[in-house]
Amino acid sequence: MIDNDRLLDYALAARSLAYAPYSKFKVGAAILLKNDKVITGCNVENASYGMSMCAERCALFKMISEGYTKDDVISMVVVGDTEDPISPCGACRQVMDELLNKDTKIILANIKRQTKEFSVKDLLPYSFTSKDL
Ligand code: THU
Repeated sequence: MIDNDRLLDYALAARSLAYAPYSKFKVGAAILLKNDKVITGCNVENASYGMSMCAERCALFKMISEGYTKDDVISMVVVGDTEDPISPCGACRQVMDELLNKDTKIILANIKRQTKEFSVKDLLPYSFTSKDL
């Protein structure tokens, strides 16, 4: 069984692979699936800065592209070198809201292994969803 601590190890390993030559701010993410598989992601930047991708969305898009959906997910860890556990950007919160269940646990962490736990709905209250279309 992969616990939060172990999942954080995966996120830290993913973080070490980040391509962040511009910001130098490396982020890692790891999604734990019910079949015990872990999908990781890191931020990937570009000289055309706006083309950069965050670690969270990298992992979530990998999850979808590998054939998994929100009901396959147990939890997600995100880690960065922040004073307090990292705070995901608004774009990533919106994508989490779409691709994960509202009660899925999101564990935010820093490299000192301090953590804060939220649910998807905690991170984006009153979100815009497909129901609004
Ligand atoms: N970044 C992430 O990957 N996730 C976050 O939660 C915060 C920000 C990335 C985007 C960019 O490559 C770098 O960190 C600095 O913003």
